[in-house]
Amino acid sequence: MSKVLSGMRPTGRLHLGHYFGALKNWIELQNECECYYMSADWHALITDYADTSRVDENTLEMFADWIAAGIDPEKSVLFKQSKVPYHSELFLILSMITPLGWLQRCPTYKEQIKEIKNKDLNNYGFLGYPVLMSADILLYKADIVPVGEDQLPHLEFTCEIARKFNNFYGNILIEPKEKLTKAARVPGLDGRKMSKSYDNSILLVESDDVLKDKVKNMFTDPLKIKKNDFGHPDGCAVFAFHEIFDKEYKKREEGCKAGEIGCVMCKKQLMEMLSEFMKPLAKRRKDLIADKAYLEKIIKIGCQKATETAQKTMEGIRRALKF
Ligand code: TRP
Ligand code: SF4
Repeated sequence: MSKVLSGMRPTGRLHLGHYFGALKNWIELQNECECYYMSADWHALITDYADTSRVDENTLEMFADWIAAGIDPEKSVLFKQSKVPYHSELFLILSMITPLGWLQRCPTYKEQIKEIKNKDLNNYGFLGYPVLMSADILLYKADIVPVGEDQLPHLEFTCEIARKFNNFYGNILIEPKEKLTKAARVPGLDGRKMSKSYDNSILLVESDDVLKDKVKNMFTDPLKIKKNDFGHPDGCAVFAFHEIFDKEYKKREEGCKAGEIGCVMCKKQLMEMLSEFMKPLAKRRKDLIADKAYLEKIIKIGCQKATETAQKTMEGIRRALKF
C-alpha cells in the first residue's frame, strides 16, 4: 500500500484555497493509502519565532478544520511534527549533505526573502526550510505527497537530497511523487491566488453574513457592467468557483459571454452554493471545538503511531551511517 505524508503550517483557520488546493486530495487518499497528516509546527517556528503564542492554538483549530472537512482520524494518522523528535534528528543529518547553493537557489526562498518585510528572515533556519520539509517526508518513506502547487520546488529538493543521501549511504530513502488537485489554484476575492497574507480569503467555514459580504465584493470581469454586456468569464474569480461547484458551468460560461446572465445573479448563486457546502462543515467544526479533549486524544494517539513509523526509518538510517 502506498504511503502518503503531508502537512500544513498551523497559521489558524483554513480557507478554501487550502481545501481545493490540497485537503481535497488528502481526504480522497485516505481510502487507498496509509496516510500521515501533520501540523508543521516547527515550520511555523521558522517564520514566527518572535511570537510563538498562537502556534498550539492554531494547531487545534487546524485539526478541527481538517476533521470537519472529512479527514477521518480512524483512517489517517494526525500528528504534530514537534512531538516526533526524529524530524529534527533527520533534519540535522540531511543538513550535513545539503549544498548551500540548492537552498539559495530555491524559488520559494528567493520570493519570500523579497516579499516578507515585517519579519527578519535572514536566518539559518529559514534558509533550511526545505531541509526540514524533506526530513518530514523521507522519515515516513512516503511515496505520495499531496500539496499545493507552491510546494513543488520543495518536493523536487526532497528528491534530490534523497538521491544524494542514497548515493552516500545505500538505498534507504524513497523519492516521493507529488499529487496536485485538479483545481490546484483557487483565486481569492481579488482574483490573485487565495492566501492569508493577501487578506483575500474565504474561510472553510463562514457565517452567511460574512460570506454574502465577501462574495458581493469579489472580483469579476471589469468590462461587464450590465447584465447584457458580453462577459469574459476566464479572468473572473466568481466563475473560477462556479467551475468547481456548478456542474452546469459550461452553460454559465456561454450565458455570461452572450450577455444573458449578470454578475449580481451569478454572485447570488455562488453565495448559495458556498453556504450549502459550508453548512455540514460548520456543524462538525462547532462540535469539535467544543470538545477539545477529544481533539487532544486524537493528536496523542496520532503522535504515538507516527513516532513508531519514524523510529523504524531512523534506525535504518543510523545503521547505514554506522552511528
Ligand atoms: N511547507 C508546507 C507548507 O507551507 C508545509 C509542510 C511542512 C509540508 N512539511 C511538509 C507539506 C511535508 C508536505 C510535506 O504548506
Ligand atoms: Fe463573472 Fe458571472 Fe459576471 Fe460572468 S456573469 S463576469 S462569470 S460574475
